[in-house]
Amino acid sequence: MKTVLLDKLKHDRKSFNCGIESLNNYLKLMANQQAKKDNNRTFVLEDEFDKSIIVGFYTLTMTAVDIQGLPEKLKQRHKFSTSAGLIARLAVNEKYQGKGFGELLLVDALKKLLFASEIVGFPFIVVDTKEGAKLFYEKYGFTQFKDSPNKLFLTIADLRVSFK
Ligand SMILES: CC(C)(COP(=O)(O)OP(=O)(O)OC[C@H]1O[C@@H](n2cnc3c(N)ncnc32)[C@H](O)[C@@H]1OP(=O)(O)O)[C@@H](O)C(=O)NCCC(=O)NCCS
Repeated sequence: MKTVLLDKLKHDRKSFNCGIESLNNYLKLMANQQAKKDNNRTFVLEDEFDKSIIVGFYTLTMTAVDIQGLPEKLKQRHKFSTSAGLIARLAVNEKYQGKGFGELLLVDALKKLLFASEIVGFPFIVVDTKEGAKLFYEKYGFTQFKDSPNKLFLTIADLRVSFK
């Protein structure tokens, strides 16, 4: 299954419900507007039989990174680094949760960010997790920033190795 850019004429944003209202509202009201302004990109996974149904989505952009929150060794290595790729949002429609689509979306987002990093160069991927989703990201190798319990990172170097 392949993700595609959100298309407001094709995708039924209103019926998407992941159980978290702020994420539902983002998809309904903000995602398309923000993409139009080139602030970020939202990719959706369509139901295989009805392409208007959104199984899940994620939003990618860039963010500033505070290296003070990194472990000592990484802090030294990346002392001149200022930016990271950001998984700004990621959610699966309730009806499709627990079937591997979250993993599929995360792997797809990571592949896109790895590809982007090969062109523009940034050393981290960052995610701000919602309540209850931190363990989901930790399962895939993300580590918490010091003093920011819900903010996690993954290095591009580790990602590259895991995709080899
Ligand atoms: C978190 C979320 C994206 C996971 O998607 P999903 O399709 O249900 O997850 P998957 O079926 O792909 O699960 C993949 C693995 O992650 C685990 N997992 C799923 N949700 C998890 C969670 N909240 N915490 C810990 N592990 C989780 C699964 O058990 C599975 O592990 P396994 O392979 O060992 O069985 C989805 O539940 C969701 O959209 N939740 C609401 C929105 C949200 O919290 N988004 C994150 C915002 S930062």
